Amino acid sequence: MALHVREIERGDLAVINRWRNDAEVVACLGANFFFIATEIDGRWYDRYLTERDKAVRLAMLDGVDGAVIGCVNLTNIHRINRAAEFSIVIGEKSYWGRGLGVAAAETMLKHGFLRSEPPPHLSRCLGDQRPRNSHLWEMRLPRRRAASRGRL
Ligand SMILES: CC(C)(COP(=O)(O)OP(=O)(O)OC[C@H]1O[C@@H](n2cnc3c(N)ncnc32)[C@H](O)[C@@H]1OP(=O)(O)O)[C@@H](O)C(=O)NCCC(=O)NCCS
Repeated sequence: MALHVREIERGDLAVINRWRNDAEVVACLGANFFFIATEIDGRWYDRYLTERDKAVRLAMLDGVDGAVIGCVNLTNIHRINRAAEFSIVIGEKSYWGRGLGVAAAETMLKHGFLRSEPPPHLSRCLGDQRPRNSHLWEMRLPRRRAASRGRL
């Protein structure tokens, strides 16, 4: 199944808000459940727009009909240490288990760290050592490799 990504837009907030009010999805994230009004998400998006140098937030789109099905993010980007926090949510539960999580992770990590090939950390994250109940995977590139490749 094809996956497309693009930066999140204000128009995505209605669907993102629906996921954030879905207790089953929130439970997967290991987060506390709160009822979240659309106004709160509007403020969250406004804040993101002021911090785009430290975060990349992409909407995951169904490659066929363009429906927004999830989000994949790099946040707390530290350009000197070349580190960031990775997070992902597929809010449309009918899309779980179709390989889109792996596809989105590869796309984001290539964009953020290499722009050419997945780092060894990707296979480590998604392979046997994948943390089952963690939504944040810390990723670092060794400085020698980082210097010879693109920057964030
Ligand atoms: C977790 C999530 C991103 C996985 O995406 P997905 O498209 O359903 O997963 P994929 O089909 O790409 O599965 C790839 C691999 O990840 C594994 N996997 C799926 N969900 C997993 C989870 N929650 N924890 C660990 N591994 C998981 C699959 O078993 C599969 O492993 P395999 O290749 O060894 O068979 C998605 O199910 C989701 O967003 N769930 C709700 C929110 C969430 O849990 N976000 C992550 C926070 S920890």
